Amino acid sequence: MNKPFLILGIAGSLRRESYNRAALRAATQLMPEGTTIKIFELDGIPGFNQDEEQNPPPKVVELKRQIREADAILFVTPEYNYSVPGVLKNAIDWASRPYGDSAWNGKPAAIMGASIGTIGTARAQYHLRQMMVFLNMFPINQPEVMIGNAQERFDAQGNLTDDATKDFIRQLLQNLVEWTRRIGEPQKFEKLQ
Ligand SMILES: Cc1cc2nc3c(=O)[nH]c(=O)nc-3n(C[C@H](O)[C@H](O)[C@H](O)COP(=O)(O)O)c2cc1C
Repeated sequence: MNKPFLILGIAGSLRRESYNRAALRAATQLMPEGTTIKIFELDGIPGFNQDEEQNPPPKVVELKRQIREADAILFVTPEYNYSVPGVLKNAIDWASRPYGDSAWNGKPAAIMGASIGTIGTARAQYHLRQMMVFLNMFPINQPEVMIGNAQERFDAQGNLTDDATKDFIRQLLQNLVEWTRRIGEPQKFEKLQ
């Protein structure tokens, strides 16, 4: 039997009532049949210190293991000061090191994000795409799931209530699965990273 398709979902917020963590939870209910999302929480990862990259903390070792185990990655990012939050960038940096041992190398990915503003994390998402060039990741382009005015699209319990947003997320996940199957095992370049 084929191994079930596995997406690793990473939200760039630690906040208890985070809209982005809520959007990631919603995504687990919107997956194509026969596929699953496993959520990796970023709390407890210390600030990156290159002195420690040969001997990373256990949580980073586990993050890298789970990235490698997954068929594809789903990032759900808030926008902080027009970019991705430090906790997400920090996790990305840890998992990209040491040189020649980046867990991101060759991974297909999708991005979405939720903001209480109207722009819906667009600027943060484009920064994340830019990082993926150097990480040699393969993000799908569309749909661009930018959830603006998030406070109107989730209820007080953090359930996604907006049907249009659900449709976008469903389409994003379906495209990610199809894209990953289509590109197969992407080429991994050994380069400075
Ligand atoms: C440090 C900080 C910077 C922020 N900068 C932006 C921003 O540049 N653009 C934006 O749309 N919202 C910004 N916000 C508001 C976030 O969209 C809002 O706090 C959102 O709920 C964060 O995501 P979360 O709910 O998943 O924690 C910022 C919030 C914080 C705490």
